Amino acid sequence: MSGNSLDIVIGAGSAIGRALIERWSRAGAHPILAVARSAESLAAVQSLRVQPHQCDYSEGALAALASQLQEQASDIARLVICNGVLQGEGYRPERALNQLTTSAMQRVFEVNTFLPMRVLASMVPVLKRSEAPRIAVLSARVGSIGDNRLGGWYSYRGSKAALNMMLQCAALEMRRVNPAAKIMAYHPGTVDTPLSQPFQDNVDPEKLLSPEQAAGALDDVLATLEADGELSYFDWRGETIVW
Ligand SMILES: NC(=O)c1ccc[n+]([C@@H]2O[C@H](COP(=O)([O-])OP(=O)(O)OC[C@H]3O[C@@H](n4cnc5c(N)ncnc54)[C@H](OP(=O)(O)O)[C@@H]3O)[C@@H](O)[C@H]2O)c1
Repeated sequence: MSGNSLDIVIGAGSAIGRALIERWSRAGAHPILAVARSAESLAAVQSLRVQPHQCDYSEGALAALASQLQEQASDIARLVICNGVLQGEGYRPERALNQLTTSAMQRVFEVNTFLPMRVLASMVPVLKRSEAPRIAVLSARVGSIGDNRLGGWYSYRGSKAALNMMLQCAALEMRRVNPAAKIMAYHPGTVDTPLSQPFQDNVDPEKLLSPEQAAGALDDVLATLEADGELSYFDWRGETIVW
């Protein structure tokens, strides 16, 4: 482990990201770089071990962040990308084809697929030199084509399936660029967060994880990851999800 090792949480304003930062802060393994859109989200995770970084996730802002990490000779130990949307102002998860709109599909794919891939693309020079980076990108079980027996949620499912495919490309590229790196597409379980809140009516309360439980499970699964040149698609119990 190098003296410049650090953990990075992108989407630090998410309930799961925030709980992970709090957990990692208590454990104290490395300094943590917390990246979020808003100053309020960053204020909520403020601690001595956390370096806050406000970012609009544009290509330019991510490139600037990556060059800062390069200049500091940072060694990324763990990188977790939490950003994701299911619904927003003026759009809801679609139940039928006649509810699809281009603008909603674009907004969901922008956050769930394009944003995480922009982050990874910008970080390549840093990941290349990092000793053994462990990368988790928050996907979802509903992004599984094989597991899709209910249909609906077109944009959310599609954006996570596309994310998984692009992560598989990244894992194959990383095999050449840094064979010690490992990437995982991750399903955190159904977690009590603003994202899932409107859809919790039919969820068995015993199956609803708190953000703290979700962060603990993610931490445990991350710790088991071996660099094998493949993308893993794991759930919060560490079990493989069918593509
Ligand atoms: N909760 C669940 O049951 C569940 C289940 C399966 C998968 N997931 C996945 O887990 C991840 C974290 O979800 P969560 O439940 O913790 O959600 P959350 O608390 O609602 O957090 C939402 C996250 O998405 C980001 N975000 C929202 N709108 C954005 C926009 N317009 N541009 C850029 N970023 C935006 C936020 O970024 P900032 O931090 O910058 O504000 C934040 O990181 C998501 O990828 C979600 O799909 C969650």
